[in-house]
Order: sequence, then structure tokens, then C-alpha cells
Amino acid sequence: MAKEIIIDKPLDMHLHLRDTQMLNLVAPLSAKYFSGAIIMPNLIPPVTDKDMLIAYRERIKKAIGDEIFKPYMTLFFKSDYDYKFLESIKDELSAIKLYPAGITTNSEGGVEGFDIEKLKPTLEAMSELNIPLCIHGESNGFVMDREAEFIPIYEKLASSFPKLKIIMEHITTAKSVEALERYENLYATITLHHLLITLDDVAGGMLKPHLFCKPIAKRPEDRKALLKVALSAHPKVMFGSDSAPHPKHTKEAPGCAAGVFTAPIALPLLAELFEEHNALDKLQDFISTNAQKIYNITPPSKLVILQKKQMDIPLSYGDIVPMMAGEKCSWRIKEIKVK
Ligand code: NCD
Ligand code: ZN
Repeated sequence: MAKEIIIDKPLDMHLHLRDTQMLNLVAPLSAKYFSGAIIMPNLIPPVTDKDMLIAYRERIKKAIGDEIFKPYMTLFFKSDYDYKFLESIKDELSAIKLYPAGITTNSEGGVEGFDIEKLKPTLEAMSELNIPLCIHGESNGFVMDREAEFIPIYEKLASSFPKLKIIMEHITTAKSVEALERYENLYATITLHHLLITLDDVAGGMLKPHLFCKPIAKRPEDRKALLKVALSAHPKVMFGSDSAPHPKHTKEAPGCAAGVFTAPIALPLLAELFEEHNALDKLQDFISTNAQKIYNITPPSKLVILQKKQMDIPLSYGDIVPMMAGEKCSWRIKEIKVK
């Protein structure tokens, strides 16, 4: 019999579901295979108040129909959120996502200049109310150095607000892995694509627009450091796909949109990767258990049975091209059991 592994309550702790037509296309693909996901707020306009957040959650629920899937909602960080507002919305959200202004897709309304003093009242309120802070940690410097240049800001935040849970989103460098160890309140998400590729895969040969994302994939030694903590399911790291769909014509264009689409193929590819490294026994913690502890959540029951049997990765989902389109994966999803 082909080798199998069961993942209980898989979670995607960083997911872009978009809105309208795109939402209707991609949300069911995540809802089918995952038990829940942290939903990014970078819509146009971004999710910045309670009505918007609840309305977006309802649109997601409508798009997924009967699937058992919990959308863990987030708000787009604004430095004028006060304690009263945050208290009123606390029960509806799982985290607040902070983007430096203009650093990535739909982040124009993010934080300008990064003056921690200016952010202090909001961060203090979040800390008191126990609302985790997710950060897209990149400076506006040279593209390969952006994440490393942001680390001092992570450190300042972590030491100034020791009770605030800070999640370094989609880390791509060995330096970020090291920073994790230095502060108790720093955690991280890691994507599938940053575990599989380096900058060479994106731009070392023919340019691969479907592998272009923010933060850009880095050096082999960075990938190695990410693999080390992911494959050992370090308790401070969790899987967050950063699956970020863009229509094909905006990726295969002179100005290519940033984002890699992986949600529907992430679980089989993770199984393949973990098996290759003899780490299948760590997959459950990386894909779910660590995140449950870090976020203190109990997702709805769902068992995903993965089987070592070859699967063809589709060329597209509607007008979205996934990572590794047309390639093969040695694992597939055999069955999903909802209790
Ligand atoms: C994301 C998107 O398209 O929304 N793009 C990306 O390259 N990862 C935004 C983000 O998470 O940076
Ligand atoms: Zn993202």
C-alpha cells in the first residue's frame, strides 16, 4: 500500500483570499483542504473597521459554501486604532497585520516612516488586549537586504512590548531565524515557496514570474536556515502559505505583480518535502499544532489523508497559474474526513 500520512486540522497562517470573483475562485480551494486560515486584510480598500471585517468574513463564508473552514480575520494596522476601538473589535479578529507603506501588493495605506513612538498607543492597547501583531518586515532598501534591515525594528518592538505576540511573516533569511531565538515574544510564519526556491529559481535562468513575490526568495544558506526550523517544527514557527493569487495577465507582464499561488497544492508539496528530509513526523506540528499553541485557537475538525502517489499540478485554476504548474508532485490528497 502506498505510504500515507494524516494531518489533523491543517492551518494556513497567512493567506490572501482577495474579493469578488477571485474570492469565489480561490476560497473554496483553501476551504477544502484546510481547517482554517489567517486571512490577510490587504483588499482595496484595506479592512480597517468592524463593519468591513464582518462583511468580508460573511463574503468568505458565502464563497466557501458548506466547507468546514474557519476564516481567522485580521485588520489592516493603522496607528490611530485606540483601546476602545480595539476592545470593541477584539472578539471578531485573530490578529492585526502591519505593512510598511507601499512595500508590497495593496499596502499603500500602511505605516509611513516607522516611528515606534507614534505607534505606541495602538501597540500598548494590542498588548493589553492580547491581540497578536503580524508584520510584513521589510525596509525600503536594496531588495535582497530589506528583511535583514528590518530586524532592528522587530527587536525594538519585541523588547518595548514584551507581552505583545509579534509574528514575523513569511521569513526568508537566516538572520530572521536567529532573531527568533533572541526574543521570547517573536514568532514566524514560513511559506512553502521559500522552503523550495532561492533567487536563482526566480531569476537565475529564464525569468519565472510565477515565482516572483515579496519578500523575494534569497540565498541557498537562507533557505537552508528556513528548512532547519521548519523540518524540525521549531515551536515558534508555523506554516503560512502567503498564497497570493494574481490573474495570469498581471503576472506574465512587463510589470509583474508580486505573489505566488500555492494554496491548493501546498499540502502534497509539503509532504513531499518533509519526506525527502525524513521529517514526516514533524509535519503535523509545522502545519497545525504549533499555530494552535501560538494563536491559542482550536480549529474545526478536519483530517486530511495524504498519500504517496503521483499528482500532476494543474496548469491553472481559472486564470491563476499556481507554482510548479504542469510539474509533478509525488504526494496527493487521498481523502478528507470531516468529523
Ligand atoms: C502579497 C499579495 O499579493 O497580496 N504578495 C506577495 O508577494 N507576497 C502581499 C504580501 O504578503 O506581501
Ligand atoms: Zn502575504
